[in-house]
Amino acid sequence: MTTMSRSSSLALVLLCLYNLSFLEALNGGFSTEIIHRDSSKSPFYRHTETQFQRVANAVSRSINRANHLHGRHSRSSKKIESTVTPDQGEYVMSYSVGTPPFHLFGIMDTGSDIVWLQCQPCKICYSQTTPIFDPSKSKTYKNLRCSSKPCKSIGSSCSNNDTQICGYSIVYGDGSQSYGDLSVETFYLGSTHGHHIQFPRTVIGCGFQNNVTFLGKTSGVVGLALGPVSLISRLNSSIGGKFSYCLTPMYSQLNSSSKLNFGDAAVVSGKGTVSTPMILHDSKVHYYLTLEAFSLGKNRIELGNSSYGSGGKGNVIIDSGTTLTLLPDDVYSELASAFSDAVKLERATDPHHQLSHCYKAKVDEVEVPVITAHFNGADVKLNAINTLIQVADEVVCFAFMSSPLGPIFGNLAQQNFLVGYDIQKKMVSFKPIDCTTH
Ligand SMILES: *[C@@H]1O[C@H](CO)[C@@H](O)[C@H](O)[C@H]1NC(C)=O
Ligand SMILES: *[C@@H]1O[C@H](CO)[C@@H](O)[C@H](O)[C@H]1NC(C)=O
Ligand SMILES: *[C@@H]1O[C@H](CO)[C@@H](O)[C@H](O)[C@H]1NC(C)=O
Ligand SMILES: *[C@@H]1O[C@H](CO)[C@@H](O)[C@H](O)[C@H]1NC(C)=O
Ligand SMILES: *[C@@H]1O[C@H](CO)[C@@H](O)[C@H](O)[C@H]1NC(C)=O
Repeated sequence: MTTMSRSSSLALVLLCLYNLSFLEALNGGFSTEIIHRDSSKSPFYRHTETQFQRVANAVSRSINRANHLHGRHSRSSKKIESTVTPDQGEYVMSYSVGTPPFHLFGIMDTGSDIVWLQCQPCKICYSQTTPIFDPSKSKTYKNLRCSSKPCKSIGSSCSNNDTQICGYSIVYGDGSQSYGDLSVETFYLGSTHGHHIQFPRTVIGCGFQNNVTFLGKTSGVVGLALGPVSLISRLNSSIGGKFSYCLTPMYSQLNSSSKLNFGDAAVVSGKGTVSTPMILHDSKVHYYLTLEAFSLGKNRIELGNSSYGSGGKGNVIIDSGTTLTLLPDDVYSELASAFSDAVKLERATDPHHQLSHCYKAKVDEVEVPVITAHFNGADVKLNAINTLIQVADEVVCFAFMSSPLGPIFGNLAQQNFLVGYDIQKKMVSFKPIDCTTH
């Protein structure tokens, strides 16, 4: 697929495209398209919302999401790791499941680990603009039994009867829930070259009871975190453990999309590339990095002096689903005041009263001092599009926020970088790039 469409007939058009052999397509890796959920190409795009209302929504989603990512959820709670409600994701990708293939949109989320989607017959489903997947119409759909390894790995409550069908349940911080069957099904990723690559027997959650309180119209979530039933663990050997993405700036290019790359297509190298160790914490599925400090001009603000996490190894989650970058209180205050001392712009107020440190400016025209994020072994230079968020026509605000729950390196800070994950070498790389042309 090279274009996204809100049309529900897209699924039919795609049926005839799935004919390329697996190995042929994988040779050299492959890429699939991702779009910002606020892009006019997105199935979630709502014409009735103004651009700045969408920004305000993204800011409040960031705040809610921190509660989930750093919350009590962990594998030891015997649930599939899932710490995000779907409307809090920001970038959307298309994929298909089943035989014949059924086309869906899911939220690309490095902060959760399973692919789950709404399934027929729905006991409770939220409204979805595209048709809902019906497993009874697919020749390759198979429920997993309680005795299966994936079922045991998520600690499903199978009441000691190994012949029963395995259930999954995801419970969110706000009381939202999704229940359904843990299954295996053929999973397809569309490549930007028009080929579709299939992954037979991929674990998915088929949700029949999705009492999820959100307004989006997604089919569910495509988790890209690690974990025993995650897509990335499933793809691991086919993609050499490598994937990368390039996130287009949030609002300046409303119609643009960018790529999620796998395998050899996901190698991040060349001029400007920096790499830092990926830290995996036991019982957590997230990707953690070690953020040592920020610097701005002559100021260096150490995370090590912060009250949270003592700047230790793996102190920050890198997340594609949170918009702002969230920092411990003391680090945030120091950074924000260093920034406001350094910028020579007229102060302004955020019309939605969510952010402080706002200025009269346009993000694509303004010049502000670079903030460098010093990861262990990798200095990442953040420009205006990474450090400021346009909240009104002539108002930008500092795109960092304090959170008592621990740092998250959000997606605004990652825009216009090619961000590569190598789960075998356990490294994350950044390369500055114009994502609208890659
Ligand atoms: C186990 O579950 C199967 C299918 O639901 C049922 O037919 C069987 O009677 C159950 N066995 C026991 C011992 O409960
Ligand atoms: C959905 O969840 C809400 C909040 O947790 C609850 O009040 C409501 O009863 C649930 N609805 C159904 C149909 O289960
Ligand atoms: C990925 O594959 C490598 C090499 O086979 C293995 O060492 C590693 O544990 C795998 N990782 C995951 C998350 O499955
Ligand atoms: C985006 O695309 C739509 C139709 O595809 C077009 O009407 C609109 O003007 C475009 N917007 C921008 C900002 O290019
Ligand atoms: C952090 O603490 C070290 C020693 O404890 C001190 O030398 C340094 O100046 C502090 N940095 C900041 C930014 O406060």
